[in-house]
Amino acid sequence: MAETLDREALREAPVLDIDPYSDAVLADPYPFHQMLRDAGPVAFIQPHGVYAVGRHEEAKTVLADYARFSNAAGIGIQDIRKPGDFRVPSRLLEVDPPDHTRVRSVVMRVLSPLVIRRWREGFDAKADVLAAQLVARGEFNGVDDCAEAFVLQAFPAAVGVRLPRTETLAIGEMRFNQSGPKNALYERAMANAQPYLAWFEESVQRRNVTPGSIAELLFQAEDAGELEAGLASNIVRSFVGGGTDSTIAGIGFALNQLARHPAQWARLRAEPAKVKTAFEEAIRFESPFQVTYRTTVAETGLGGCRIPADAKVGVYFGAANRDPRRWPEPDRFDVDRPQVAGSHLALGTGVHACIGQMIARLEAEALLGALVRQARTLTLAGEAEYRPINQMRTLDRLPLRVEPA
Ligand code: HEM
Repeated sequence: MAETLDREALREAPVLDIDPYSDAVLADPYPFHQMLRDAGPVAFIQPHGVYAVGRHEEAKTVLADYARFSNAAGIGIQDIRKPGDFRVPSRLLEVDPPDHTRVRSVVMRVLSPLVIRRWREGFDAKADVLAAQLVARGEFNGVDDCAEAFVLQAFPAAVGVRLPRTETLAIGEMRFNQSGPKNALYERAMANAQPYLAWFEESVQRRNVTPGSIAELLFQAEDAGELEAGLASNIVRSFVGGGTDSTIAGIGFALNQLARHPAQWARLRAEPAKVKTAFEEAIRFESPFQVTYRTTVAETGLGGCRIPADAKVGVYFGAANRDPRRWPEPDRFDVDRPQVAGSHLALGTGVHACIGQMIARLEAEALLGALVRQARTLTLAGEAEYRPINQMRTLDRLPLRVEPA
């Protein structure tokens, strides 16, 4: 619901003099999230001159109200309408209705539940083979050997693009650092990805996509005039960019929490269908996308605070997903938490809600399901390590130990 603008009644947002992109916050964002929620419904982040919301209610409002909070200036901290060295904007995520509605309806048709469900068998077969290899090893890295190995095998093939590991990971890291400020992480990720930029551009072109794939269906929609010229490769780029690292992160978080809570692993072993809620709870508990931005189209009010026109507003998914106003005991991982799917914001909400969420769920359910069937126990074999990325939270290393069922 749009708030009527009553300037007299609005107050200035509280100011937080803290850098959410500092090493300390990226290593452990939860104290910052609490500070943000406690400051009020909206806060002004002094070091970057942007606004931010961390409470569930305002996060949902900003994501849902596209008439006041636009995507056209980009979902990163930079305003991509201004001159600068920005990544190629997503012509799905970084446009507003009605243009967005038109493109999204074509993409939704291509990604119909029927098409996606056909992948289930292939995903399950790949997951079974990988789980058997991992259980035979006994100890493995839950990131490289498991979540990443599976997603890089299953997802690009399903979309219809060929993605070697080193190139894909460098491009993903560039993308999610580029959405933040131009700090050291940004500079390093840009430099590391340089050798692969031309390769990436080439891999999302029609001549390189697999016949019969979703990518090819998008090019066919372009031929039929349903998508403007150039849109198909842009959307394939958004799929690869948006769907690879995020799913690896989400599966990694689920494995990390399940390894820390043996009783919850036992719960999944007794009731394997629970892998669905385990994945939803894992991405509520630690959201892969930490923040997205909207830009105010005019001066507006939010939670009683004034936000000027053309201001960037950061929506902290991770903070909203642990808002005690919304979730009882938010810092507890609980596979039995009721009504998590559809209420957490890790997959966004509103017109831009994740279009690949069915794919992510299918991948997670295949891999977690295979491990639950084949491993009697799952425990940590060392400490989990995180990889600092401006816009994302993800694991770098997750030493795991399993015992065969
Ligand atoms: C656990 C895995 C995933 C997470 C956490 C995730 C998260 C999100 C979020 C939060 C948004 C909304 C961003 C915003 O409103 O600014 C989004 C949108 C999007 N996601 Fe995902 N995503 C995941 C998997 C995928 C997959 C597998 C694909 C592959 C197709 C994908 C493709 C997209 C696209 C294209 C959009 C833009 C949709 C639009 O603007 O209409 N995502 N995702």
